[in-house]
Amino acid sequence: MRSHYCGAINESHIDQEVTLYGWVHRRRDHGGVIFLDLRDREGIAQVVVDPDTEDAFAKAESVRSEFVIAIKGRIRRRPEGTINKDMPTGAVEVLGKELTILNASATPPFQLDGYVDVGEDTRLKNRFLDLRRPEMLNKLRFRSKVTSYIRNFLDGQDFMDVETPILTRATPEGARDYLVPSRTQPGSFFALPQSPQLFKQMLMVSGVDRYYQIAKCFRDEDLRADRQPEFTQVDIECSFVDENTLMNIMEQMVREMFHDLLNVDFSSFPRIPYSEAMAKYGSDKPDLRIPLEFTDVADLVAPVDFKVFAGPAKDPKGRVVALRVPGGASISRKQIDEYTKYVGIYGAKGLAWIKVNELEKGAEGLQSPIVKFLGDDVAMQIMSRLGAENGDIVFFGADKAKVVNEAIGALRVKVGEDLDLFTCKWAPCWVVDFPMFEETSNGGLTAIHHPFTSPACSPAELKESPESALSQAYDMVLNGTELGGGSIRIHDGEMQKTVFGILGIDDEEAQEKFGFLLDALKYGCPPHGGLAFGLDRLVMLMTDSQSIREVIAFPKNQSATCMLTQAPGTVDAKQLKELNINVRKSVKEES
Ligand code: AMO
Ligand code: AMP
Repeated sequence: MRSHYCGAINESHIDQEVTLYGWVHRRRDHGGVIFLDLRDREGIAQVVVDPDTEDAFAKAESVRSEFVIAIKGRIRRRPEGTINKDMPTGAVEVLGKELTILNASATPPFQLDGYVDVGEDTRLKNRFLDLRRPEMLNKLRFRSKVTSYIRNFLDGQDFMDVETPILTRATPEGARDYLVPSRTQPGSFFALPQSPQLFKQMLMVSGVDRYYQIAKCFRDEDLRADRQPEFTQVDIECSFVDENTLMNIMEQMVREMFHDLLNVDFSSFPRIPYSEAMAKYGSDKPDLRIPLEFTDVADLVAPVDFKVFAGPAKDPKGRVVALRVPGGASISRKQIDEYTKYVGIYGAKGLAWIKVNELEKGAEGLQSPIVKFLGDDVAMQIMSRLGAENGDIVFFGADKAKVVNEAIGALRVKVGEDLDLFTCKWAPCWVVDFPMFEETSNGGLTAIHHPFTSPACSPAELKESPESALSQAYDMVLNGTELGGGSIRIHDGEMQKTVFGILGIDDEEAQEKFGFLLDALKYGCPPHGGLAFGLDRLVMLMTDSQSIREVIAFPKNQSATCMLTQAPGTVDAKQLKELNINVRKSVKEES
C-alpha cells in the first residue's frame, strides 16, 4: 500500500520511511546519482537513487518516462541551493532504497512533462495519456469540486436529486435529435433527451417541489468551442416560485461558488431586459467586461443619398448603428481591412468607419471613406450623438437588424479584446424579458426558449399579438457566454394549447407528441419554473479554458467523433437486421 501520495510529502515527513506509487515523469542521470520525478494524481516527488543501493540503482537506470514504479525510501530535506520553491514538495526528496517496476511503458506519442501542440485529435485519440498531464487532471479535479459544491448547495436548499430517462421521446429544445432504434418495436425510435425539460415538469406535478439533476443532454447541432453533442446540465426545477425567487437562489449559488472556489466576488449582477441588450450590444449574451455600446443612427442617415445606409435606415427590418471606440483612431488601415473581413463572416457587406482626428475643425477633422456620402452636417450630428472625442474611431453597420447585431456585436467583442478594453475580469448578468417567439426564415414563429415557457400575458393577449408578447424567461450570462437559461412554465392547459397553436402544432399533433403533458396539466399542476446551467461551460469559464473540450474527460471532436473509441462506428448486418434497419448506400454512391 502507498503511505503517501507523491504530491503530498513535505517537511513534516522528514526522516519517515514512505512508499510511493506513480509514473516516471522525468528521469535525470547526474553521473553517479539518478533523479526520478515520480508523478501521481496529487503531484510530483523527487526521488534520488544512489549507486550504493545497487539493485534499486540498476532498475532506476533502466526505467523510462511513464514506467509505473513503486518506491520505498526515506524522506530527507533537499540540500541547500536545490530547494524548488515552485513545487509543493520542493523542500524535500525521497532517498529511494527499493524500486519495483510495476509496468513498462512504450514511448508516449507526445511529451507529458510539458505542453507540446500535437493537434487536438492526437490528444483525444490518446486521451488516457493526455489526462495524465497535471494541467488536465487539475481541470477534472476542479470539475468534481464544482459538482460537489452544487450538490451541497442544492441539497442544503431541500432540492431532491431525481434521475430521468435517457431513452425517451423527442424533447424540443431546438436542435436535431439523436435517435436510437427500438428492436422490440420495429420502425420506432427513441430519442435521447435534449434536456430533461418535460420530465422535471412532470416531477413538479408529482409534488417533488424542488428537483435537481446533473444530467447528460444530447443535441445533434453544429459544434463550436462551447458546444458538444453530448454535454451536462445542472438541471433545476421548483414549484410555487416566481421569477425573482428563482433568479435569487441561482444567483446566490453562483456567487457563493465563485467566492468559495475561486475567491472571486462579483460586484454586481445586473438584470438587463432583452430589448436593451439587443439595442446596446446586439446580443442576448453581452460581454459586459467591454465598455463599448451601439448607438442607433438610422433616423440621421435615412434622408442621405448614401444607399448603403439610407436603405436599411428606411427598412422596418433594417438597422444602422455606430460603435464608438475610444482611442481607436490608432487602428491601422490594414487592421480595419481585417475587421471588414471579420464582420463578413457574419454577413456584413462592408464596414464603414470614421476616425475622429480634430473635432474642433468640424467635418474637416474627420477621416473616413463615407463622410463625403453622408454630408458634413449628418456626420457631425452623428459625432455629437455619440459624444465622440479626438482619437476615437467609429464603426458603422447597416443591414437587416439580424446581420448588424451579429456582425457589429462580434466586432465589439473582438475590438474589446484586441485593444484590451476590459474593465473587469468577471461580468455576470441576467438577461430578462425575452420575447416569447421569433420569426423563422419561412415567416412562421418559433419559441425563443421552448414551447413550455410561460408568456407574461393572458392567452387572449397572446393570441392577439404573439410577435410582441414577452415571456417569463431569463438567461444567466457570464463574460459573453450563456451559462444557463430557464423560465416560469405554463401550468395551465389552455395556455399550453394556445402556445402550441401559435407554433403551428395543431390539437392532433399536440396530443400525439405532448399528450402526457396536456394530461398532467389537467390534474392540479402547481405553478413552477426552473433553469438549467451548462456545467461544461461553467467549468470552462472557471478554469479559464479555451473550449469545453478541455473540461470534459472524453469529448467529441469538431466533427462529433470520439477519437478514442472511433465512435460512431458501423454495426453488424445481424444487429441491423434485428433492428429492422436497411442502410442506404451513401448519396454519393447512389448517384
Ligand atoms: P437551454 O437549451 O438554454 O435550456 O440549455 C441550458 C444550458 O445548457 C448549455 N448548453 C450546452 N452546453 C454545451 N453544449 C451544448 N450543445 C449546449 N446546449 C446548451 C448552455 C445553456 O444555457 N430545458 C431548458 C432549461 C430550462 O428551461 O430549465 C434548456 O435546456 O449553457
Ligand atoms: P461602398 O460604397 O460599397 O464602397 O461602401 C462605402 C463604405 O461603406 C466602405 O467603407 C464599406 O466598407 C462600407 N459599407 C458597405 N456596406 C456596408 C454595410 N452594410 N454596413 C456598414 N458599412 C458598409
